[in-house]
Amino acid sequence: MTGRPANREPATGEAATGGAADRRIAEDELEAREAEALDRARADRTDADRLVSPLADADDRAIESALRPKRLADFVGQQRVRDQLSLVLESAVRRGRPPDHVLLSGPPGLGKTTIAMIIAAELGMPMRITSGPAIERSGDLAAVLSTLSEGEVVFIDEIHRLARPAEEMLYLAMEDFRVDVVVGKGPGATAIPLEIAPFTLVGATTRSGLLPAPLRDRFGFTAHMDFYRPEELEIIIRRSAGLLGVTLRDDGATELAGRCRGTPRIANRLLRRVRDYAEVKGDGVVNRAVARAALELYEVDEQGLDRLDRAVLEALVLRYDGGPVGLSTLAVIVGEEAETVEVVAEPFLVRRGLLARTPRGRVATPAAWQHLGLTPPESTPAPGLPTLFD
Ligand SMILES: Nc1ncnc2c1ncn2[C@@H]1O[C@H](COP(=O)(O)OP(=O)(O)O)[C@@H](O)[C@H]1O
Ligand SMILES: [Mg+2]
Repeated sequence: MTGRPANREPATGEAATGGAADRRIAEDELEAREAEALDRARADRTDADRLVSPLADADDRAIESALRPKRLADFVGQQRVRDQLSLVLESAVRRGRPPDHVLLSGPPGLGKTTIAMIIAAELGMPMRITSGPAIERSGDLAAVLSTLSEGEVVFIDEIHRLARPAEEMLYLAMEDFRVDVVVGKGPGATAIPLEIAPFTLVGATTRSGLLPAPLRDRFGFTAHMDFYRPEELEIIIRRSAGLLGVTLRDDGATELAGRCRGTPRIANRLLRRVRDYAEVKGDGVVNRAVARAALELYEVDEQGLDRLDRAVLEALVLRYDGGPVGLSTLAVIVGEEAETVEVVAEPFLVRRGLLARTPRGRVATPAAWQHLGLTPPESTPAPGLPTLFD
């Protein structure tokens, strides 16, 4: 169930013409790679101590339940997901039947777990929480499913990491509300069908593209969560400040919203750090000046880049005139493992259009030069666009 998505080979013909081969890696593949990189980061904890990591650390987990909106009406942003979901839930409540199974997909820290809890709350039903990696054997899943009462919500986080036998058990459960419990081993084993109560499965994944089709097809409703806009993040940050008892000025909220990488989890974390700073160095009020000073101290810049992100861009721009540079060379210059550069720094730089991954190596875009306060050289082609001489 692991398996990296195969690196995209340039199609024949493309390789011969440098320009076309430089085309940026397709967006969906990038998303899959990014999500997969995060999976690895989660496993290795490469990303763990970064202030701008989208993954939850122990502090985040301790505070997140207090910050989670409890009802759909309090959930900010993701307008389309909210509208669609409210229809699905309302009609289910009216019919008095459990709604279709719901798949929530998107990068970490955008509110998948929050939405799952909201679904249960809106249905007025209890929720069982588990995750793909926690279900080691199909028996673990059978234990959950066979003890459900009617209408309960089952939340499986990181559902793409479910082991194969459990996944197959889930197909049947989702479709027919039935599980086959296998008794005995080898040729004498028999499958005993067991009826289970109608339930609603909510699955969350950072890698929906890699979910097996039979599983994906069994969800009646799929919601894709996207990064938040600064205006939405401002509202979220102001709401969190209220819950945490932080005095936050509007210009302070604006400053934080621009630096949190479109991710509420990071926004909430930055807010706590800035609050600490305001309490120690000031009168506890978070305004723009305090937010700027604090985030300068924590080395998170205006776009949410941290020290490693900037080191990568500087290496590319200052040492290699923008590239292309191979990943391993780049890693040596910034003094990190290649894996760390690829997994921890690059995905966000690529998303922000500051760095492009090309078959010949990493390239800084004109935006990267500008971000470092430099003028991009005239000859820097926009990545992906063939130049006159290709
Ligand atoms: N739309 C939102 N409005 C307010 N807070 C949000 C929103 N989305 C996420 N959050 C906050 O961000 C944090 C991470 O959300 P979570 O649901 O755990 O993300 P995910 O499960 O996608 O990683 C939570 O503390 C939650 O309060
Ligand atoms: Mg989650």
